[in-house]
Amino acid sequence: MHVSDPGAANPAVSFRSVSKHYSSARGSVHALDDVSFDIAAGEFFGLLGPNGAGKTTLISVLAGLSRASSGQVLVHGHDVVTDYAAARRSLGIVPQELVFDPFFTVRETLQIQSGYFGARADPRANDAWIDELLENLGLADKADANTRQLSGGMKRRVLVAQALVHRPPVIVLDEPTAGVDVELRQTLWQFIARLNKEGHTVLLTTHYLEEAEALCGRLAMLKHGRVVALDRTSALLAGRASTMLRFKLDTPLPLTLQANARVTGRIVQIKTRNAAEVESVLATLRAAGGQPEDLEIGRADLEDVFLEIMHGVPEHGLSQLPMPVSV
Ligand SMILES: Nc1ncnc2c1ncn2[C@@H]1O[C@H](COP(=O)(O)OP(=O)(O)O)[C@@H](O)[C@H]1O
Ligand SMILES: [Mg+2]
Repeated sequence: MHVSDPGAANPAVSFRSVSKHYSSARGSVHALDDVSFDIAAGEFFGLLGPNGAGKTTLISVLAGLSRASSGQVLVHGHDVVTDYAAARRSLGIVPQELVFDPFFTVRETLQIQSGYFGARADPRANDAWIDELLENLGLADKADANTRQLSGGMKRRVLVAQALVHRPPVIVLDEPTAGVDVELRQTLWQFIARLNKEGHTVLLTTHYLEEAEALCGRLAMLKHGRVVALDRTSALLAGRASTMLRFKLDTPLPLTLQANARVTGRIVQIKTRNAAEVESVLATLRAAGGQPEDLEIGRADLEDVFLEIMHGVPEHGLSQLPMPVSV
């Protein structure tokens, strides 16, 4: 039997050699391949990776919605399979997909959700917290609106409120800001950051790397279901990142510069190690007749680190040269 240990030694979430295969007519997909890491209580943890990397699958296994092919997941010491109810009660999950029962108002949806966790016989006993959620997520004036009448952004807010209604110690958000407006992103992050300060553990997946860089103390990066990076955000930035030279260019980039360049339309970013390299890049450009505009020199950001890791990791054990990256 697991005895829940409230001490720091007991991680909020523990993924232990988690693998997940899907079988189909065209063969087997390894959505997760031997994923192991712990998230300590109180951490703001980011799970990053390109589409199809396995992020949602890992969260589904954590949520008990999908069974791992092998391995184990614990939430505050509770196995998500053999001790499902206790594990689930510790989790507040904001799913990637917008799914709703369309017959209820926003407030009813939250009251029903509150009842599911059965902490109180009277579902209205949680009303003060529901009011606080509605207020903090900018939903107060939509409390009596039917969920089917809400815009996508408003539905996303209700999903967040629903996940938090039973005050879970661990909050899991799967791409919560995909396609939502700037205002909701700010409202949401203010609120989630406050809950994290108050001691809630947060696990976040996002495509917005600047969000991850700003919010997450530690990050895991997934590629083809495998963990390819796991470290403090600051260490990932310091260890990999160097100086980025950014400019606009209307002529083709000389071939010799392409290996370290990222080209987005006419914006070129080139990684350099020092001032001498910056000078040599500019000299090469000028020799080729290129005229860089809006030249900037800055530190590499998480997106640079992410692309370097995603494109630099050998696949299937074969060595692979870093490729020029166009996005
Ligand atoms: N129900 C399923 N059946 C078969 N394959 C699936 C299923 N769900 C996900 N996959 C596959 O597993 C891989 C990981 O998907 P997913 O976890 O959704 O990635 P992410 O959330 O990182 O974009 C993908 O190759 C995806 O096609
Ligand atoms: Mg996903």
